[in-house]
Amino acid sequence: MANEAVIDPADGGEPDHKGRRRFLTATTAAVGAVGAGFAAVPFIKSWNPSARAQLAGAPVTVDISALQEGQRLIVEWRGQPIWIVKRSKAIIEALPTLDDQLRDPKSENPDQQPGYIAEANPELRSLKPEISVLVGLCTHLGCSPEMVAEIRPEPFDPNWKGGYFCPCHKSKFDMAGRVYQGVPAPTNLLVPPHHFTDDSTIVVGVDPGAA
Ligand code: FES
Repeated sequence: MANEAVIDPADGGEPDHKGRRRFLTATTAAVGAVGAGFAAVPFIKSWNPSARAQLAGAPVTVDISALQEGQRLIVEWRGQPIWIVKRSKAIIEALPTLDDQLRDPKSENPDQQPGYIAEANPELRSLKPEISVLVGLCTHLGCSPEMVAEIRPEPFDPNWKGGYFCPCHKSKFDMAGRVYQGVPAPTNLLVPPHHFTDDSTIVVGVDPGAA
């Protein structure tokens, strides 16, 4: 079972396990569970606005209280899949060890994340170490990469430390969305504007302090 839930505003904000949209289908079909023992997709509560408001760019408020370590929640914002991933301690500790294999390990390209993300932690690219929020579209030609989050040898990388693999043209990103060197994707995955209103609530589409 895929270790994630998908929220589609066209379903009134209820988790969608059918993957009706193309990018959601690709993502849910390709992603494997992270760590054994998570038998069920968590129930995710959200307060999404209408589909029309979504397309216009309305913020999306997401309750992540049920999100377990190693799981990914996918919501839609401005017609894009937004990944919210809870990273393990092992994944977090592995990220800085990858810097010399990456194109932009310190998040120096200001177009790929808000300034407060680069300032908070340029290697983790997140406001909280464990919670990563990314736009789930490859920066090469826009395919939806697969999450391959376990630290173990993979056919495409014998030293894999977890991350995202785009099967379209074999681009690789780490668990912070940082792109590897020598792949077609030119830049790190986008981090959307977002902030926490409390420990378990994220608003995607609004910068901290701008609400
Ligand atoms: S679209 Fe991802 S590598 Fe080409």
